[in-house]
Amino acid sequence: MNSKVIIFDTTLRDGEQALQASLSVKEKLQIALSLEKSGIDVIEVGFPISSPGDFKSVQTISKNIKDSRICSLARCVEKDIDAAGQAMSSSDSFRIHIFLATSVLHMESKLRKNFNEIIDMAVFSVKKALRYTDDIEFSCEDASRTTIDNLCRIVEKLINSGVKTINIPDTVGYTIPNEISYIIKNLFERVPNIHKSIISVHCHDDLGMAVGNSISAIQAGARQIEGTINGIGERAGNTALEEVIMAIKVREDILGVSTNINHKEIYRTSQIISQICNMPIPANKAIVGSNAFAHSSGIHQDGVLKNRKNYEIIDPSTIGLKEVKLNLTSRSGRAAVKYYMDEMGYTSSDYNIDELYTAFLKLADKKGQVFDYDLEALAFINKQQDQPEYFSLKFFSVQSISNGLSTASVKLLCGKEIHTESSTTSNGPVDAIYQALNRITHFPIILQKFQLVAKGKGKDALGQVDILVEYEKRKFHGIGLATDIIESSAQAMVNVLNNIWKAREVNKKLKILKHFKKK
Ligand code: KIV
Ligand code: ZN
Repeated sequence: MNSKVIIFDTTLRDGEQALQASLSVKEKLQIALSLEKSGIDVIEVGFPISSPGDFKSVQTISKNIKDSRICSLARCVEKDIDAAGQAMSSSDSFRIHIFLATSVLHMESKLRKNFNEIIDMAVFSVKKALRYTDDIEFSCEDASRTTIDNLCRIVEKLINSGVKTINIPDTVGYTIPNEISYIIKNLFERVPNIHKSIISVHCHDDLGMAVGNSISAIQAGARQIEGTINGIGERAGNTALEEVIMAIKVREDILGVSTNINHKEIYRTSQIISQICNMPIPANKAIVGSNAFAHSSGIHQDGVLKNRKNYEIIDPSTIGLKEVKLNLTSRSGRAAVKYYMDEMGYTSSDYNIDELYTAFLKLADKKGQVFDYDLEALAFINKQQDQPEYFSLKFFSVQSISNGLSTASVKLLCGKEIHTESSTTSNGPVDAIYQALNRITHFPIILQKFQLVAKGKGKDALGQVDILVEYEKRKFHGIGLATDIIESSAQAMVNVLNNIWKAREVNKKLKILKHFKKK
């Protein structure tokens, strides 16, 4: 049997249909280009009959994608098949994906048809689609709840009609690994022409088993896996493709198959899709979550620093991530503190590890997470954490007009002096405050991430703002918490400014020390 598993991505069809807001043509194209760059074999780009907008986006994507096969969905309805064929006509080779339900439940209560009528509709639609392309995929919707006899019967007819890919969807996320394996094995044993087609599975995650079911199907002989990046999709979502792809790579010893995927593109593609679809990735999500390669416990951190394989089954660089991430918290040991100091270029003679570690634990208890610049500040400027911060926000006022300009004024205590500034911008009140603060400090910072989350419920909820900025090629974080979200935004920036100020003080101090050492 072929050892290549075809990866079929339906982020733009099954994934998109689950989003709160539809994506624009431009956004869909951006996602398609990113999937193409990742080496996805087949990209299902839409359901052209569903709306003129979808038709247009399928047309645009078809003109721009060359390396992946483009595919569009159609019901067993002639106008759907025509729309799919016409929308993709500018592409050299494309696939039409037709679907029809085959379970008794769907046939009786949704379609009001008997099984013979279903077979006729399916075969008729395949003939219509073959006028546009010879690459036809057929999905027996709700296949996991279809009797195995019926499934074998329709699959044989479909392959005889010219279907190249038979898809077995677990439409409602109901099946479990043993059962899907039983279904696929039965198809291979009982359908005489089965070897003329590729067997595919399309799993939903209602019981959290989509990836497990897909892997089980591969072991039973399936050679196409359908899913979405980050697992987005109807209800609990679809099979998370990045998880299947990495399972195939990491457990090649057992699975004995491979994909055409460019693994280094996985992380980037996942980030792009999360941002465009406005679907944040949970921190503990396998492969692409922000904690997937972050080590927190002291024992694990020490183990990883000695040999990454102790606690890492995937080298993060395989998916395009650069660094090992050790979360600096009160659970971290000396090894993690030393690792970050080494990363910043300090040798153990520059500081006293015992004193630094004691100060670090106190700060970690107070602050939760500690960053590299905090360690630097602890090591070189303030071992006691009770010193007042250099910058403190004394006053702010903002005025914002709908579709117009926002004006902000701030009073910032800088050491012992109060400075006042104001700014006007068309980018909203937060930007106005940030610009006013910047007019005082003049730090050349680039805002990289701004995240607002509600803490608590109702009118008493607090708005927490987390920001990440780049300053002289280093990253600095800031947090602000207040009932007024403009105030929490301002506080988060003041927090960042204090962190940068400390890093600058460390720099100055180290320069002076070097100067005296030379003498
Ligand atoms: O879940 C499903 O059954 C589908 C089909 C259209 C393949 O998305
Ligand atoms: Zn689906």
